[in-house]
Amino acid sequence: MGHYDPAKGTGHANTSLALFGNRLYALGESDLPYAVRLMPDGDIETLGRHDFDGTLLANMTAHPKVDPESGEAFAFRYGPVRPFLTYFYFDANGNKHPDVHMMSLPHPSFVHDFAITKNYALFADIQMRMKKPVDMIVQGGPPMVSDPAKVARVGVIPRHAKNESEMRWFNVSGFNPMHFVNAWEEDNGNAIVIVAPNVITIQHALERFDLAHSMMEKVRIDLKTGLVRILRCLRATAKDVGSSEARLVQRRVPGMYGGKQDVRARMLWRGAIFVSKEAEKSEDDGYLLSYVHNENTGESRLLVMDAKSAELDIVATVKLPQRVPYGFHGLFVKETELNKL
Ligand SMILES: [Fe+2]
Repeated sequence: MGHYDPAKGTGHANTSLALFGNRLYALGESDLPYAVRLMPDGDIETLGRHDFDGTLLANMTAHPKVDPESGEAFAFRYGPVRPFLTYFYFDANGNKHPDVHMMSLPHPSFVHDFAITKNYALFADIQMRMKKPVDMIVQGGPPMVSDPAKVARVGVIPRHAKNESEMRWFNVSGFNPMHFVNAWEEDNGNAIVIVAPNVITIQHALERFDLAHSMMEKVRIDLKTGLVRILRCLRATAKDVGSSEARLVQRRVPGMYGGKQDVRARMLWRGAIFVSKEAEKSEDDGYLLSYVHNENTGESRLLVMDAKSAELDIVATVKLPQRVPYGFHGLFVKETELNKL
């Protein structure tokens, strides 16, 4: 028997998955990625904690973004000690580029997800902050607390920035996304548009999840004038919904595939994954995949829905042998991609 050494990783890796640099990773934002392999019998084999040849020195987000055209992966880490936010990216072969430390983040913030566009990486500095390490120990409870006095901001930095000098912060009052659905550029790259579920009741986001509510919002930032507009509430949602998955990156969102809570059936689903058809005719020509769990019967299913249909028609269901915990993210990987690993 060995002894537990957190310096060698916590081994959670239970938040999300990502496929980049010819490897499939299981991810948790408090640790390094863990390379995994799907076995022919459906079992998952852990290949090991992966530090990218010693270049990834500490933890990494569970929500990296992969550019489907270039194969690059963009990522970051956040934490309670300076620098509170660090950005980096990997080339298509999985080689990590140097860290860009965001020293303009004056306090530790809760940065669970981010977004990329064709040319930029976008960060939300929400009205939530991490406790100081000593307070985490003394006070206990969640490591994050809401901070209503803080002004929410969005940071915009070129994807391949070598340092923080090109980072621009824009105040976006009351904009508190924990996940992003998507982002893209308009006006020849002079404007950024973000679609994200904005956590309206940020004070309840961690302690009283039952009271937390989100509204799907669209924020447009004019990079020339600095003008920020929250364009409209696209759809009210009961809860925060999952992040955009790899294949939605940079695509204009054709519709809002948010979380849905059917109270009658106690059937819950969150954070659908969009999978385009091989020969897609339009940006919403594909399928939505999501797990659902029936709290009355204890049954869980994977639903495959027609993304173009108005009511998200279910075209296939797969009964699952066990429940997938709420909040876990998923990833769609083609068989041809798996066979290449
Ligand atoms: Fe997440």
